[in-house]
Amino acid sequence: MNTVSTVGNPDYDGPIAMLDDVTRLFAGSPQVLALRGVNLRIERGDYLAIIGPSGSGKSTMLNTLGLLDRPSTGTYYFEGINTSELADDDRAALRGEAIGFVFQSFHLMPKRTVLENVMLAGTYAGRNRAEREERARQALKRVGLQHRVNFYPTTLSGGERQRVAIARAIANEPRLLLADEPTGNLDRRNSELIMELFAELGASGLTIVMITHDSHVAEAAQKQVRIADGLLTELT
Ligand SMILES: Nc1ncnc2c1ncn2[C@@H]1O[C@H](COP(=O)(O)OP(=O)(O)O)[C@@H](O)[C@H]1O
Ligand SMILES: [Mg+2]
Repeated sequence: MNTVSTVGNPDYDGPIAMLDDVTRLFAGSPQVLALRGVNLRIERGDYLAIIGPSGSGKSTMLNTLGLLDRPSTGTYYFEGINTSELADDDRAALRGEAIGFVFQSFHLMPKRTVLENVMLAGTYAGRNRAEREERARQALKRVGLQHRVNFYPTTLSGGERQRVAIARAIANEPRLLLADEPTGNLDRRNSELIMELFAELGASGLTIVMITHDSHVAEAAQKQVRIADGLLTELT
């Protein structure tokens, strides 16, 4: 297998991600304490849903887990590595090699084809074009969109767009898949299809953290945690 790991620790057998008393304070007036001392342990292979109402700190927590944001106090360990000790370029390299993201609004490039959108996932890892194309095609097959590779996102349904975004997120074989309200823009039928896809990915061993305000969606995950006003409570 071709491994390009440079920063992470894929063989680490402890929790893949661990938040230790993490706070996040947004400065301003008024200042907002979005996370108030969060402790969370995510094991490899977990499929975890974080449920909470709007403004409860879900996206802040997911951005922290995804190395897009930093704790104000406390520590985030990824694969045993204290991420606050990483230089910015190592954080970016670790994010690129190990973490995939799916967002509510898909974040696809409208002027690029489905295949091109998914191929962009491989750029960070320094893979060549042929390898990125092969991985992109495989990922699109995995989400059932091999017949849409040359389409443009604007010609696809919302559910199909989200499947493209999921293909992009998994094309690089991340070790942690993070999803921020992935069904938030979808109708019920498409939400169900996306939840089935996440369940399949979870069953295949991928570690998934999904945030949602919808307890029906959260029930599809293997574990659930609730967040309210920047604090977690474990449900199961
Ligand atoms: N960049 C920011 N600057 C200031 N306040 C922010 C910022 N991001 C989030 N917040 C505040 O932090 C709280 C939690 O936000 P967020 O994590 O986005 O919640 P959720 O995703 O659960 O809706 C909210 O009160 C929000 O207004
Ligand atoms: Mg949010």
